Amino acid sequence: MSDSKKELRSRQWYGGNGKSTFMHRSWMKNQGLPDDVFDGRPVIGICNTWSEMTPCNAHLRDLAEKVKFGVYEAGGFPVEFPVLSPSESQTRPTAMLYRNLAAMDVEESIRSYPIDGIVLMAGCDKTTPSLVMGAASCDIPAILVSGGPMLNGVVKGQQVGSGTAVFRWVEELKAGTMSEADFLSAEAGHSRSAGSCMTMGTASTMAAMIEALGLGLFQNAAIPAVDARRKQLAQMAGRKIVGLASDQVNIGQILTREAFENAIRVNAAIGGSTNAVLHLIAIARRMGVDLTLDDWDRLGRGVPTIVDLMPSGRFLMEDFYYAGGLPAVMRALGEHGLLHRNALTVTGTTLWEQVCDAEVWNREVIREWDAPLTAEGGIAVLRGNLAPRGAVLKPSAASPELFKHRGQAVVFSSIEDYHARINDPDLEVDETSILVLQNCGPKGYPGMAEVGNMGLPQKLLEKGVRDMIRISDARMSGTAYGTVILHVAPEAAEGGPLAFVRSGDWIDVDIEARHLHLDVDAAELSRRAEGFTPALPPLNSGYQTLYRAHVEQADLGCDFDFSLSSLALSQQRVSH
Ligand code: FES
Repeated sequence: MSDSKKELRSRQWYGGNGKSTFMHRSWMKNQGLPDDVFDGRPVIGICNTWSEMTPCNAHLRDLAEKVKFGVYEAGGFPVEFPVLSPSESQTRPTAMLYRNLAAMDVEESIRSYPIDGIVLMAGCDKTTPSLVMGAASCDIPAILVSGGPMLNGVVKGQQVGSGTAVFRWVEELKAGTMSEADFLSAEAGHSRSAGSCMTMGTASTMAAMIEALGLGLFQNAAIPAVDARRKQLAQMAGRKIVGLASDQVNIGQILTREAFENAIRVNAAIGGSTNAVLHLIAIARRMGVDLTLDDWDRLGRGVPTIVDLMPSGRFLMEDFYYAGGLPAVMRALGEHGLLHRNALTVTGTTLWEQVCDAEVWNREVIREWDAPLTAEGGIAVLRGNLAPRGAVLKPSAASPELFKHRGQAVVFSSIEDYHARINDPDLEVDETSILVLQNCGPKGYPGMAEVGNMGLPQKLLEKGVRDMIRISDARMSGTAYGTVILHVAPEAAEGGPLAFVRSGDWIDVDIEARHLHLDVDAAELSRRAEGFTPALPPLNSGYQTLYRAHVEQADLGCDFDFSLSSLALSQQRVSH
């Protein structure tokens, strides 16, 4: 609780009887509002990423109505407004290009509206971090309500996870072993209810991060989107935010270093997406918490993945909820000394009070600590002359036989170059080669596309090769796996050493030692760098120009460089 409670911020718009107050209230009354909603009760913004172009969030308009019930019940005044909704499945060239734009939309909306507290409504991958980044810059009371995952996909009696069988079906249709009618039917069975992707991909990971950070209510991550308990959660969030706004418990009191450390360990225990690294660093930096790649490596080491969910495991988010959900995982972490138990949550209680009685109902889905899915669930951060500022890899998704490997580079200068040559029968590549992809980072693509898990050459697939080391400055989908080294910083387009790798160069990878080395001497690398100009695709909008000029490198979370300086200038955060 704040020691010195100030007048609610909304009173600057709605308090008194002056000319501007008249205007603020009068125009709002054209919606049929009675006088007393302006009597000094907290004004609660409901910041909604509802959009029919973001199908994972298409039910959030209905869910927002439940939040409003809760706000009214607790004596607040709810006001819903839309913000940009980057859609992972529909937005091109990549939704990540628009995460920061959406964060700006949220931040400026909060700053410019008479809001005392906010409920953030998100679901699809980028909508969660963008909303939290925007709210973090303003440091007002906030709760995030996730939309929840879809029900398990079911196709011909088989359970399928979001995105996990698509490649196989496309191949079967091409080969004539699957009919077009079955193909179209699989599309419907694969995504058969409202909600976000139901594997432990980026959307589920980020919903789990919200719960682990204490910014969402109990079971925020896993209740299916269409389960009635998702509506209960939304209504409870509406009730809770009124108390937080009245008591002026700002998001900064929730998003502490301890909260981020809890989230990193939870990410390891659930086998979460590598995308969480970027998003949590970006949120933390906006909160003034100096979270680094090294924190990810250090805190995740030795934490086993105990959740057996696709893409690494067998089950899906619906199963995870019925098995006990995230509280059961956090209890296990707490019992092994891997949780800051006193971290505050938006419920007003500590994280440990929330989870200490959680139970596991299915030990196949949430495993015993001593019988994990993988013993090392964390994120490995590799460094060396090929990635001076770091690169990341998910050891649990990698092949143990490739943990220490020396191979010759096969370099692709862009994703188009990769597509043009990867299946060329004359491409000089074998299973010991290392595939290197350049110019797919934040500035190079632009937007850092999810193309880092490049498919293997057809001729090697036909030989039975299933994994090779791949290195790039790109990202990887949360539903992907393999020995894939991502987020190389600095990126090729920024003149990082990745730009100067040539086919035939030897590369040494040692995951245990966290080492990534290009075996080319420094003098030769300097020669290659002389007169360097990046081969960048043309920009086709004003926003893309701003993005390329100001986006930071992956080790800093790919936020805009000016987002932090504006925060530093604004001590009161929500200024007018
Ligand atoms: Fe929206 Fe996967 S496409 S969560």
